Amino acid sequence: MESLEVTKLSKALLEGKVVGIPTETVYGLGALATNETAVDKIYRIKNRPSDNPLICHFYSYEQMLKYVTWVPSYLLLLVKTFSPGPISYLLPISPNSALLPATRGGLYVVCRIPDHEKTLELLRVVNTPIAAPSANPSGLPSATSAKMVFDYFGDQVAGVLDGGRSEVGLESTILDCRNQDRVIILRPGKIGKREIEECLNHYEEKIRVEEYQVSHEVVPGNKYPHYSPTTPIVKIQSPQQITTTSNYLILASDEGVKKYNLKADAQKSIYIQSFGSLLSLDHVAQHLYENLLRVDQYGISQAYLLEEDWGESSIGKSIQNRLSKVGGSF
Ligand code: TXA
Ligand code: MG
Repeated sequence: MESLEVTKLSKALLEGKVVGIPTETVYGLGALATNETAVDKIYRIKNRPSDNPLICHFYSYEQMLKYVTWVPSYLLLLVKTFSPGPISYLLPISPNSALLPATRGGLYVVCRIPDHEKTLELLRVVNTPIAAPSANPSGLPSATSAKMVFDYFGDQVAGVLDGGRSEVGLESTILDCRNQDRVIILRPGKIGKREIEECLNHYEEKIRVEEYQVSHEVVPGNKYPHYSPTTPIVKIQSPQQITTTSNYLILASDEGVKKYNLKADAQKSIYIQSFGSLLSLDHVAQHLYENLLRVDQYGISQAYLLEEDWGESSIGKSIQNRLSKVGGSF
């Protein structure tokens, strides 16, 4: 027997409504992927450009296979290793696929099996893929808690399934799996090139793992600004570049704060906000969007983001990727 919360939200989904769903990466704004009117509502609520397709969520690999027309033979190994988990696969669908509302008529769909018990339960109950972009108005930081979704959308959504704080905090890695001999990473995430190569080394044939070059040619969302609060943010390489003398905030890692001896000054309304330590990148990722959104609460007119080297690990490179898009320049 499913929980009352899941029963209520599955009913809303089946009635064509939009609901907030928890996943281990970020929260999603979900509707039945096969219901065009419901999917259109997501675009309206998010103010999302209409050429930007939505990821479809499934409760199992078997369910995914019912909707795609072809998979490369190495996919099973990737799925067995990483799914359910923070990874998505771009695969072909047929011209009369039921998922066309979510792909905006395109013949490829991004598929994900999220690693969150409540959302997996919801997916099983509705027994239809759920299309869900990250739960944020376009351009703003993605929601990583039910409260963030409520604060963003209030009663524009039929409800939010509260699944606690998203464990990863950054959106899934997106893999282009449309070729038999190679995998292309279209969006970096917690699972990176290193982990994918290590997994595919166990495969019987050699599969190349490439990182995206001009990824917005495949992933339309990569060409839009992201993750920015309303307060203007300027990137700086060092605090010497700060031109204002009061009423600003600096965002940096713990190490950045220490290196430049950054200090808050209440009288001048100068604030320092740390992302956390370079030594605890999982924690930094988990709180990244919450910290970016918090910038608007200081009532300042300018924020500065210290550019730093977040290291070579997959999670560090993903943090770097997300921060590179803050403030609209990417
Ligand atoms: O972790 C995640 O992936 C979260 C959770 C909710 O699952 N979802 C998410 O969705 O990040 P969204 O819409 O914020 O980002 C999805 C990206 C967009 O850049 C979009 O352009 C791309 O994936 N995308 C989705 N479907 C696509 C398709 N059929 N072809 C190419 N790109 C696609
Ligand atoms: Mg998004």
